[in-house]
Amino acid sequence: MLTIALTKGRLLAGALARLAAAGIRVPGVEESRELAVRDLSGKHRLIFLKDMDCPTYVEYGVADVGICGKDVIGETGCDVLEPLDLGFGRCRMVVAGPAARARNSGEVPTSLRVATKYPRTALAHFEAGGIPVELIRLSGSVELAPGLGLSDLIVDLVETGRTLKANRLAVREVIAESTARCIVNRASYAVKNAAVRRFLDAVGSP
Ligand code: PRP
Repeated sequence: MLTIALTKGRLLAGALARLAAAGIRVPGVEESRELAVRDLSGKHRLIFLKDMDCPTYVEYGVADVGICGKDVIGETGCDVLEPLDLGFGRCRMVVAGPAARARNSGEVPTSLRVATKYPRTALAHFEAGGIPVELIRLSGSVELAPGLGLSDLIVDLVETGRTLKANRLAVREVIAESTARCIVNRASYAVKNAAVRRFLDAVGSP
């Protein structure tokens, strides 16, 4: 049996559609509150996790494979194989700030505060640019932070851009593109190679 880690957020519908196309079906799963379910064949167990926890479950081998965003794999820094770009869930990791920039007063800010759910990604980005920042780690609704004076900038995901616009923010810089990826536990790839390969072939060709 293969255990498949899925995330409960924006990628869930796309991931379940790929699994269904690959013959891995769990009727009623989207309405259920059960967090671990078997598919109809009994050959797969699906577990439902918060985005950031998906690579952890795969790294530790609790799940053999997982479907999660490239952004999350980079942020967690987990040691997993990433053999397949599934192509859906396309979004961008960006630096954003107030759409109406304050007039340049001539003052150079001594420290820049950046609010984000992705501190590791944000820090790596600003460090690479040699820009010192104070990171403020948030769990969600990050787009509120600049308007309420908590931070100067945010680092966050943008898909349609509606949340930025509704909160009077604009993209300042694109850090990376992200899509849904299939990740695999290193030991599972060796020990359950035939089953993992069958799974990758099936979900990789929609
Ligand atoms: C994500 C992301 C942005 C929003 C972007 O948040 O962090 O807030 O979606 O989407 P858009 O560009 O299509 O508007 P999510 O919906 O996961 O909720 P959260 O704020 O609770 O993290």
